[in-house]
Amino acid sequence: MNGLGPVVWPPAPIETERLVLRESEARDRSALIELFASPEVGTYVGGPRPREELERTVLEVPGRRPGFFVIDLDGAAIGMVTLDRRDGERPGRIRPDAGEVELGYMFLPQAWGHGYAAEACTATLDWFAAVLPGEPVVLTTQTANDRSMRLAAQLGFTEVERFEEYGAEQWFGVRSSPAPTG
Ligand SMILES: CC(C)(COP(=O)(O)OP(=O)(O)OC[C@H]1O[C@@H](n2cnc3c(N)ncnc32)[C@H](O)[C@@H]1OP(=O)(O)O)[C@@H](O)C(=O)NCCC(=O)NCCS
Repeated sequence: MNGLGPVVWPPAPIETERLVLRESEARDRSALIELFASPEVGTYVGGPRPREELERTVLEVPGRRPGFFVIDLDGAAIGMVTLDRRDGERPGRIRPDAGEVELGYMFLPQAWGHGYAAEACTATLDWFAAVLPGEPVVLTTQTANDRSMRLAAQLGFTEVERFEEYGAEQWFGVRSSPAPTG
């Protein structure tokens, strides 16, 4: 068992038309530090983190946990897509016991505007629907984050509620996967 429940991790790398979704490796460290230090990336997710702090604290192989996919374009990391059990203390929930699985995504600014995030998130959601059929996925994003709001809609998330958190309005949505068959 892990944060995602009875999911075997890591899966074999997942190939899409243009991308590979895979477990993180030591060679991804600099791209992930770039991601966390980028002011553009951090605008709606708590702000960038100081690069020297990241250089000191980010593990040699960062992000090695169930549900953490590095998104690889032509052999280099351009972003990450995550699935994590949601902390029950946070606002927003779709069932009383909380602990819903939540989708997250962050891409390097130079990779925005090509549909890579949509392609990677779709593959992640397809993978998840195959390993835990019928389990819904939730998503939280600031309403001011236009790109993220457009992506959430494109991926098929629908609004459950809006709430204030971290001093900003948050959009909380859900995407149901088809019920298990057989
Ligand atoms: C949120 C985020 C991942 C969205 O990235 P994105 O590149 O806009 O998302 P998509 O993959 O859906 O790409 C859509 C864009 O690619 C364009 N595009 C180009 N080729 C495309 C293709 N083949 N297929 C689909 N879209 C394509 C679309 O027209 C659209 O561009 P536009 O918004 O300028 O009209 C990105 O802005 C990001 O990493 N932000 C920082 C982290 C963050 O805020 N995360 C949210 C936390 S909840």
